Amino acid sequence: MLLTVSDLLNPDQVAKARQTLDAADWIDGRVTAGVQSAKAKDNSQIPEGHPASKEVGALILDLLGRHPLFLAAALPLRVFSPLFNRYSGGQSFGTHVDNAIRQVPGTPHRIRTDISATLFLSGPEEYDGGELVVQDTYGTHNVKLRPGSLVLYPATSLHHVTPVTRGTRLCSFFWIQSMIRDDAQRSLLFDLDVGIQRLNREVPGNASIVPFTGVYNNLLRQWSEM
Ligand code: NI
Repeated sequence: MLLTVSDLLNPDQVAKARQTLDAADWIDGRVTAGVQSAKAKDNSQIPEGHPASKEVGALILDLLGRHPLFLAAALPLRVFSPLFNRYSGGQSFGTHVDNAIRQVPGTPHRIRTDISATLFLSGPEEYDGGELVVQDTYGTHNVKLRPGSLVLYPATSLHHVTPVTRGTRLCSFFWIQSMIRDDAQRSLLFDLDVGIQRLNREVPGNASIVPFTGVYNNLLRQWSEM
């Protein structure tokens, strides 16, 4: 499932984040790439653990942790600290699949990357190209969002970023280990959750809400891993 979370950051938060990130040190993006993806990757990144990454990353994690749509769709167990990249002057990232397991820097922990996230921090009018192209079982999706909005997509998908031929594309990217590893199961739970919430709004107190809520919780209990 591909899902857009619109306006996670408001325009003021985007402007402040960009100021902080612009002032950071940027390095070759191949540092976080696997062997295969390093060949396809051409961009720059802020080093993991850089104060600018930590500051803006903390804001993103805080907002996500309070965002009902994100929580319902991702059913997050762990969220990797956001990283930041930028593309300009024809840079691109060829077709690849993200690494399945990531070491959490500075800790002995690893996370399984079930969901990939890209949060756009520059506006679509600021650059040409730079589309995130995701191939899933429903076809090919081209994603380019307004600043502050993010897309979630299955980390199992093949994806690439088209060359940025004008301007600069600044994004945050990170991964989520979900309580529900399987994308199809996670999508079913999300659809059920959305339906129950709609029933709650449209016919509050309807007796059917209780068994549906029971089914949701009992599926979550059967399928979740912690
Ligand atoms: Ni990727």
